[in-house]
Amino acid sequence: DWTMAAYREEAIEKIRKQVGDGKVICGLSGGVDSSVAAVLIHEAIGDQLTCVYVDHGLMRLNESEEVVGLFRDHYNIPLVHVDASETFLGALEGISDPEKKRKTIGGLFIDVFEEEAKKIGGADFLAQGTLYPDVIESVSAIGGPSVTIKSHHNVGGLPERMNMKLVEPLRELFKDEVRALGRELGLPQSFIGRHPFPGPGLAIRIPGEITREKADTLRKADAIYIEEIKNAGLYDEIWQAFSVLLPVNTVGVMGDERTYEAVLALRAVTSTDGMTADYYPFDHAFLGRVATRIINEVKGVNRVVYDVTSKPPGTIEWE
Ligand code: XMP
Repeated sequence: DWTMAAYREEAIEKIRKQVGDGKVICGLSGGVDSSVAAVLIHEAIGDQLTCVYVDHGLMRLNESEEVVGLFRDHYNIPLVHVDASETFLGALEGISDPEKKRKTIGGLFIDVFEEEAKKIGGADFLAQGTLYPDVIESVSAIGGPSVTIKSHHNVGGLPERMNMKLVEPLRELFKDEVRALGRELGLPQSFIGRHPFPGPGLAIRIPGEITREKADTLRKADAIYIEEIKNAGLYDEIWQAFSVLLPVNTVGVMGDERTYEAVLALRAVTSTDGMTADYYPFDHAFLGRVATRIINEVKGVNRVVYDVTSKPPGTIEWE
């Protein structure tokens, strides 16, 4: 579409002007926004860009393979894949406050980016896929409204001490426009259509303390939920669907054994920009099918509930 073609050209000019012959590090999260930002910036400045994909141990199932595959194989854009799961999960040990989680993760992201920047002889800029709604809704770290609901930034709350300047070519766009730009740039539909995924990842979908074991349980359950949504042909109707592993155990019965395991909450919402949202009215048979599969197939979960809160008053993520 012509508007996006024009936007693309303008954005490329702007990036070139801002960056000059400087070097840019772009953090890839697996989401649409950072992917579109990276492809756009690569088009503007080529190998002055280094993409860094940080696996913090809180990604979805198979996420790493998919992202690395897209960039290395589809685009031939060089990508550094950092497995930092030990570091992130270690630092998050014992933390259950949502803002503390976000700030811890944001700080570690910057550590990783700065380390990678050093390896390429220094970088002047950090690129992010920040969108317009992120700018309005957040952000203590970049000076948002006076009431901070969540430090939600693309990397979950950037520390002040960061010494790279930000490149944010999507700052004026809404999600649907980013998807149009992604199409214009030739990203595969499988990528463009993906549900949004927050920078802090599964950390904010595990209320209470995070452990690797809980993250594994959540990943398995969530993959089943998303698979069922896709099988039912509902994925594209839904803005975002995901599971939340609650820090609550309940009593159940399996065969003739007593169980005492965690509750999993399912969330699905419709929205146009993430700023307001309605819960998705699944039919009960669908929910029952998902619950049965998860309880049968995922060790550690014996009860499934569905979240019927819209935004406001709820937020989309639980933390
Ligand atoms: P909430 O939970 O605030 O979320 O209603 C609105 C949208 O933003 C996403 N979100 C984030 N995205 N970094 C991101 O890149 C974050 O720290 C973050 N926190 C929330 C959320 O998934 C939803 O799409």
